[in-house]
Amino acid sequence: MADAQHDPDAPVLFFDSGVGGLSILGPAKALMPAMPIVYAADSAGFPYGTKSDAEIAARVPALLGRLVERYRPRIAVIACNTAATIALSHVRAALDIPVVGTVPAIKPAALASKTRVIGVLGTEATVRQPYVDRLAAEHGADCTVLRHGSAALVAYAEARLRGEPADPAVPADALAGLLDQPGGDRMDMVVLACTHFPLVEDELAAAAPRPLTFLDGGAGIARRIAYLNGDAAWPTTPPPGKAVFTRVDASIEALRPAMARFGLDQIQSL
Ligand code: DGL
Repeated sequence: MADAQHDPDAPVLFFDSGVGGLSILGPAKALMPAMPIVYAADSAGFPYGTKSDAEIAARVPALLGRLVERYRPRIAVIACNTAATIALSHVRAALDIPVVGTVPAIKPAALASKTRVIGVLGTEATVRQPYVDRLAAEHGADCTVLRHGSAALVAYAEARLRGEPADPAVPADALAGLLDQPGGDRMDMVVLACTHFPLVEDELAAAAPRPLTFLDGGAGIARRIAYLNGDAAWPTTPPPGKAVFTRVDASIEALRPAMARFGLDQIQSL
């Protein structure tokens, strides 16, 4: 066990390319309010969804190594489906602390689907991963699993969190990418397989031509962090949350209010 696991001040590290990981941080903070938090966004590498697998596989473990060295977290959470479906095993091999990955919630979607048609809405990189093929084969073998990648919806979520105007057609277009595929007319579940997307779930629901159920992994990951933390103590007064960016520029300033809503009051650069 790493020393960090015995230090009540050791934080939980959340990692994403941008603001998406806030959809994972939110439920975790709700379950464990005293959890010290470091939220790391690879703003210099954003977006991940349009990058090659090789780029992600090289970038993510190296960055997490640096973050762990600097912040000594008790647990690292890859709060990004793209990074986790490509690099989870490499990150686990490189770090000596528990690593939680965010992967598409295909299992609960397949369990709940009545029509046996489920949609997976992620980044282009995530929806092409063999990891997703395996989840679909293991948990949804009797389902039609439709997939669609939308870089526009990632950009839309980032803009919304900055309080900037975003093209209102984007959520409907992203859903059409699933609904217009063969079988899409029977789809009842949509797995939000990019952590940016639960942040704009209301907009997706409003844009849906008929009621759809949206699922994501946030609540399950919160329970997993609590389980892995076990009996390790949290501080009596949690320190202010830190948001760490790999590139700090003017656009980061616009994120301050959104970050503060998640208790991230300090902004730093890596
Ligand atoms: N939030 C990320 C995910 O869950 C990726 C967004 C991006 O950088 O393209 O896949």
